[in-house]
This record gives sequence, C-alpha cells and structure tokens, in this order.
Amino acid sequence: MSNVQPRGDKSGSVPTVDFGAKILDMARELAQFSETTEGLTCTYFSPAHKAVAVRLREWMRSAGLAAEIDAVGNVVGRYASAANAPKTLIVGSHYDTVINAGQFDGRLGILTALVVAEHLHGTGQRLPFHLEVIGFSEEEGARFSAPYLGSSAIAGCFNETVFDRQDLSGIDLATLLRTEGVDLAAIRKLARRPETLRGYLEVHIEQGPVLLENNLPVGVVTSIAASVRFRITIRGVVGHAGTVPMSLRHDAAAAAAEIVLAVERRCAEGPNLVGTVGQLAVPHGVINVIPGCCELSLDIRAGDDATHAAAIADILAAICQIAERRGVTAEVAKIAHHAAVACAPQIQSALARAIKRNGIEPFYLASGAGHDGEMFAGITDIGMLFVRCGNGGISHSPLETVTAADVDIAAHVLLDAVLNLDQLGL
Ligand code: HGY
Ligand code: MN
Ligand code: MN
Repeated sequence: MSNVQPRGDKSGSVPTVDFGAKILDMARELAQFSETTEGLTCTYFSPAHKAVAVRLREWMRSAGLAAEIDAVGNVVGRYASAANAPKTLIVGSHYDTVINAGQFDGRLGILTALVVAEHLHGTGQRLPFHLEVIGFSEEEGARFSAPYLGSSAIAGCFNETVFDRQDLSGIDLATLLRTEGVDLAAIRKLARRPETLRGYLEVHIEQGPVLLENNLPVGVVTSIAASVRFRITIRGVVGHAGTVPMSLRHDAAAAAAEIVLAVERRCAEGPNLVGTVGQLAVPHGVINVIPGCCELSLDIRAGDDATHAAAIADILAAICQIAERRGVTAEVAKIAHHAAVACAPQIQSALARAIKRNGIEPFYLASGAGHDGEMFAGITDIGMLFVRCGNGGISHSPLETVTAADVDIAAHVLLDAVLNLDQLGL
C-alpha cells in the first residue's frame, strides 16, 4: 500500500504533501516561454519550445531523474526501479501548445508526473518497474500539421511521410530537424520495445465541462475519440465583384461556406460526434474580387469508429455534391486519422481505487480530445486521469484554468495509483 496519506485518510499517519501549488507555479513558469509577446504559443522546435525542453530537463534532473532530450525533442526523465526490473511505466503528456493556448493542456500531465517522481525520489521509494516521465514534444501538430510526432516516435509508430510537411514559412519538417542536428535515421531507434512496457498513464485537463457539471475534481477516462483531419482546397472562378452576375459565378468561398454548414448539420445528428472547420481562408483575398480559391481545415471526431466512418463518408459525399452543383473543384487531403482507443480496464480500476482511497467517488468519462496515449494503445495498457477545468471547461484558450486543490488531488491519485499498480497484478 502506498506510503503517502491519501487525502481521505485523517489518521495523520503520514504527512500530506501539497503538490498542487507547486505544479501550478511550474506551469506558470513554463508559460513565460512563448513565440508571442501576448499569450502562449509554443510550437515545434521554436526557440520557446526549445527553452521549455531545457527547463523540463533541468527540473527532471533536480527531481532525481536521469533526464535527456531525445532526437525529436521529447524530454525523457528516468527513475530506475528498485531491482533491475524488466519493465518501464511511462507517465507523461506534451509540452507543445496550440496557437494562443492555455497553460495546462499537456503541461499539467508532465508536471504532475514530475512532482510525483520527485516525491518518490525524496522519500527513497523505488517502484517494481522503472518510471519514465516524458514531456512529448509535438502533440497538437500546430506547426507542421503532423500531430503526435513525439509520442509516435517513442511508441514506434512514427510515420516518416510527415517529413515533407511544411510550416507556414515553407520549411519542411525534415529540413528543420536536420538544421537542429537531428539524424532522421535516429528517430526510429527511439521506439520502445512493447514487451518492456509496464503501461502508459497520462494526467490531462478534461478540456470540457463534464467534471465541472458533476462537481468532481478528477475522473477516469474510458476511451479516446476517433479523429480525422483534412485540408480542403476549393477552386472556383475568380472574377470582378461588380460585373459577374450571381447566376454565373463559381465562388470558392461560397462553396466553402456551404460545406461548413453541411459539416455542422451532419455532425449535429449523432451523440459523440463533432465536426469543426477551424481554419478557413481566401488566399490573397481582395474585397472586390470573387474568390477563385478557398482553403479550409476539417476535423471530425466520434466516440466510436462506426459513427466516425459513417460521418466521414457522408461529409465527403456532401463536399462532392456541393462542388459539382457550384461548378468548383474540391481537393480533399487527409492529414491525420486515428481510430478510437479504449483505456485498459485494469488501469481504469487502478485509478478508480486510488481516487476512492483519496476520498472521492470514481467517475468515468470518455475523451473527445486526442491525446498522446493513443499512440501507445496498440502496444501497452493505457490509462488517463482527467482533471476538472474551470471557466465552463474551456480549453485551447488563455481562459483555460484549473485549481491547485484539484491538481493536488490528481497528483495524490497518480502517486497512489503508481505505488499500487501491482496490487491489481497489472
Ligand atoms: O486536438 C486535440 O484533440 C488535441 O488537443 N491535440
Ligand atoms: Mn490540445
Ligand atoms: Mn493535450
């Protein structure tokens, strides 16, 4: 049994440690590294991103972990097991962000794992497995439209076709990595052998309102939604805004607008089904020119693969019909596709028992957001613990917020779950 006082235990037998405030202070410190003077933006291998990696490595080392930054920018801190155990438990999340992000998406999971590892080291507790605290370098895909770069490399499913993805300045990923001194061939050597993994755990903010509405600080994640991302380019006929009659137009932006509404209509049909056009632009658009081209992104998610596949098929068919009727072309490029994944029942119950021992009723919920854990679902047992979000559950926004009290509970639950993982024969 763990030797930290569960929060529900009033015996006072062992001191209750306050992790929450420390974790929030560290998150605030990391947020100072940004590509923008206002707000937090920290995308792959920017100077801010590299500064965060160095700070995380420093913190991991002072927490007693052997820490390094790997070829794709993951910050990996290792806390060796008691005896020379054959397996490793990975606990982590990502440190890259979306544009104009909140401070806690991803980072909270890294810092919670780091503080728990530091507590184990500080109290001289060793685990029956090695513990790897990992700050994954690229989960959002904000710069190169290639999500999960860091975690896929560690999980052995890095897709080398992303090397030619370009950022807005036209730099491709391979060139960027080479200029950073990365030997691309070294990336595949980062893959962990599945048989050496004890499991994967991730603490993450919920990024939604469910825990808030149920007045709960933490919850056990049951599954991670299926997701697909497309880039769509509509090409019509450019023209003078004043001279081309409406009936003769092939307006690319009007076609895109109809597509956005078709996505909204189709995705409103099902529970656990969402569709988002997060980016929509008329390249070089001018106020008095009919758009000849319009570029948009499309993100479709569903709680299960069958609902996901049906919605994708219907939406792609709608795009074709709209394009044909309007006399425009629609080029649809898939940039990422991930099936729904289930969290391992054994890890779910390990987390639930730890939550209960900390005096809270276990609550189960699905994740509509994608997470690094998806990359490990095929090779080891994965589990996630969600932490309540304030401000109505908003995320991917500077309004993202959590409380120190909830974060402290999450850290105690993680510590308890890690210390007692073997109780379930996991
Ligand atoms: O898009 C997502 O669900 C995650 O934030 N990468
Ligand atoms: Mn995110
Ligand atoms: Mn995230």
